[in-house]
Amino acid sequence: MSKKKKTLAATLLYVTPPTEEQLQGIREFVYEKYVDEDYRREDISFTSEQDTSLGGGFILQVGNEVYNWSTEGRISALRRKLDKIRDSVTEDQDVVSIIHTTIREFELTAKQRSIGHVTYVGDGIAHIQGLSHAQYGEIILFECGIKGMVQNIEEDSIGVILFGSDREVRVGSRATRMKMRAGVPVGDDFLGRVINALGEPIDGRGKIESDDYYPVERPAPTIVERQPVSVPMETGILAIDSMFPIGRGQRELIIGDRQTGKTSIALDTILNQKDKGVICIYVAIGQKNSTVAKIVNTLQNADAMDYSIVLSATAADPAPLQYIAPYAGTALAEYFMSRGRDVLIIYDDLSKHAVAYRALSLLLERSPGREAYPGDVFYLHSRLLERSARLSEAFGDGSITALPIIETQAGDVSAYIPTNVISITDGQIYLESELFNLGTRPAVNVGLSVSRVGGAAQTKAMKKAAGSIRIDLAQFREMEVFTQFSSDLDEATKSLLHHGRVLMELLKQPLGRPLSMAEQVVTLVAANHHVMEQIGPEQVKDFQMRMLDDFAQNDPAILSDIAISKTLGEEMTDRIVTHASKFAESYLAESKAEETDEEAEG
Ligand SMILES: Nc1ncnc2c1ncn2[C@@H]1O[C@H](COP(=O)(O)OP(=O)(O)OP(=O)(O)O)[C@@H](O)[C@H]1O
Ligand SMILES: [Mg+2]
Repeated sequence: MSKKKKTLAATLLYVTPPTEEQLQGIREFVYEKYVDEDYRREDISFTSEQDTSLGGGFILQVGNEVYNWSTEGRISALRRKLDKIRDSVTEDQDVVSIIHTTIREFELTAKQRSIGHVTYVGDGIAHIQGLSHAQYGEIILFECGIKGMVQNIEEDSIGVILFGSDREVRVGSRATRMKMRAGVPVGDDFLGRVINALGEPIDGRGKIESDDYYPVERPAPTIVERQPVSVPMETGILAIDSMFPIGRGQRELIIGDRQTGKTSIALDTILNQKDKGVICIYVAIGQKNSTVAKIVNTLQNADAMDYSIVLSATAADPAPLQYIAPYAGTALAEYFMSRGRDVLIIYDDLSKHAVAYRALSLLLERSPGREAYPGDVFYLHSRLLERSARLSEAFGDGSITALPIIETQAGDVSAYIPTNVISITDGQIYLESELFNLGTRPAVNVGLSVSRVGGAAQTKAMKKAAGSIRIDLAQFREMEVFTQFSSDLDEATKSLLHHGRVLMELLKQPLGRPLSMAEQVVTLVAANHHVMEQIGPEQVKDFQMRMLDDFAQNDPAILSDIAISKTLGEEMTDRIVTHASKFAESYLAESKAEETDEEAEG
């Protein structure tokens, strides 16, 4: 059997044709380097071409390797060398003589650089042959200036996802390894800015000065580096803070059908972080440009952009950018966490992220699994969300709290991606279209929502005040169904039903009106002591808001005491109940007077 002979092409690019002596020298160089068991001398073919763009000198290409002996190459090599000296020179050294020696001793080492050729390009991905040592996650630079990331490594080629338009990359064009992993610039100047998945500003407000470069993929903090969740991340939403408290470092999923207020909960949580020292990062994945613009607007109007960053990879961006967006956002979050800051990151939403990844994987010819997602789609989200953590004191006490969002289809939480993310996170806030349409907004389903670790972070005051409301609500729902068709009810049942209705009303909350912890405690204490017994459900919301205003104006010590001590003693409870009952009396008297007025007028 005859073995197919391999040949190796060596091409020499020159400005002035080389002398015979020079040519001989180059041949010897190639023979010495490449003649082994694979290639014999006669398997290597030599060609030479003129290329005036070099300025002077030669460039030698052997197979996939390049030796740059051109003038330009020498200058940049010398520049690199001088840069290195600059960093090491101290003040009392004679700089001029150091430079002299360096230049005198400068010797051009033949640096080999591997280059590859594009064999296929389309739909945001490219296949490259020749970059045999490329690593997974490494950046590849194409001739046209576009960058990509190695995503697939096969026997004789690599699959690269492109971070730019695939129309500029052509079959046959050259690609080189950057020998660095995909990453984003990070820094304090990113606060207040809107950026894309590569960390470039897209708000038209100029360049952002970065302090560092963080890889987009990075191992999660280890157990030793972590400490348990113990500080609350208050959302300002009564339904969440009272029943499903979130702690700094926790991952709480927001899940629900389309248009159920998922984004609104995340935004309200950002608004509530004002003056709390938390940095907020909102990552938009696969959304419309107009939606993202609206979100930025909302944040700006509420002065929340000062402590926030919006990272956007919209539906119009290529799938690779949508795919790396949440990792890039997390890299930024890690920068702040490593400096001891508390960060809140929102991934809106991971369903679209999974879809972008599915598109990429199918194009890279990975075999499809359940719902056509590739087999590693669980790992896609688990390695992302594992990076949320509360670091221990020794590591600076910073934290990343994650609020991933998942969109379900017709309430189906048992689909592939929802079940994955439910099992990765520490709990979920389940939003329901039915409740939303009935006007219960935020449309939190109390029965199906849960927070697994946040209880440890809830303040004592809140824990005490929230006490039994989940049970009360469950009892109320059962009783409501049970008594739907009966007309004469005993007093106890009537009172229970009324209490349930009052609670349901209190849990409704308009957009952009977060409640402080103290306000929530006062509301709950008043409700649990049946202060709103005489107030009709339709008036409860109005009563609550006016009662809180009244507390703020006439007895601000109550609110500030709770905010500072974070506890709720007997005496404090009595003070709240007394004040609230007095206010209820005056409220009732007032509304009665209004009624009689209206009657008199009518
Ligand atoms: N608590 C609330 N009170 C009043 N209106 C609300 C409330 N929460 C959300 N909405 C309104 O409901 C609509 C949908 O909200 P939002 O965009 O947050 O939902 P979503 O689930 O993120 O939707 P999508 O699936 O399109 O992303 C918005 O117009 C918003 O103003
Ligand atoms: Mg949304």
